[in-house]
Amino acid sequence: MMKNFKAEIISNKEVNPDIFNLIFKAPELAAAAPGQFLEILCGADGVSGGPFLRRPFGVYNTDVKKGTAEILFKVLGQGTKNLSARKAGEILDIVGPLGSGFKIIDTPRPVIAGGGMGVAPLLLLAKILHEKKQKPIIFLGAKNKEELAAAEKFEKYGKVILTTDDGSAGEKCFLNIPLEKYLKENKNAVIYSCGPHPMLKCLAELGKKYKAAVQVSLEEKMACGLGVCRGCPVEVKNKDEKYKMVCKDGPVFPAEDVVW
Ligand code: FES
Repeated sequence: MMKNFKAEIISNKEVNPDIFNLIFKAPELAAAAPGQFLEILCGADGVSGGPFLRRPFGVYNTDVKKGTAEILFKVLGQGTKNLSARKAGEILDIVGPLGSGFKIIDTPRPVIAGGGMGVAPLLLLAKILHEKKQKPIIFLGAKNKEELAAAEKFEKYGKVILTTDDGSAGEKCFLNIPLEKYLKENKNAVIYSCGPHPMLKCLAELGKKYKAAVQVSLEEKMACGLGVCRGCPVEVKNKDEKYKMVCKDGPVFPAEDVVW
């Protein structure tokens, strides 16, 4: 259930240049589903000093026994810059968990596809699939090695295939290339994905071509995160309701429902 709560920071580490893994106490998030997200106040002191609107972050991981949760984020603007400077012992102001996450399907062929910082909401999913004794094959793509910030964390949950645009890690190509090879040999796969819009569009096309069920977690700027400001529309194939709100109706959608 969604709540507004305060959470004490346990650690905030720069895991790769400009990419931070922030861990905080949050027993409130024990039941967060993979794909759900949090809205966090990112003022200079955690509350005031702007930016005034909260910033959205996918739930990267949770530890139910320890009562902790994690986010993984890249410094992209003032809000994330402020967040990167927060220290252990300081307090975060969080609303969440928000939105609807991935629908876990019982399948012999689970596939995870994460592009860039789109990996953030996928680690918890990989962990849950692993706990359910599914063996996901995990495709992770990024511009370069530094942006593959979470690759080694995925390794304990399934086979990981890496691609980078510059060839600094894994194959030098976009992740759709090895993924298509896999889909050619493995029909009826289920793909859980998050990443840049062109990548997700490409996965939607591959899903159609190889009869794979594709779920996409859309990345949008979100001001309220609650479906109130109407600032995060996505066009869908629905004659009654042309637009849905990414924050409230998603962020995860079946790829075939989205107008690409
Ligand atoms: S962020 Fe306000 S409606 Fe989605």
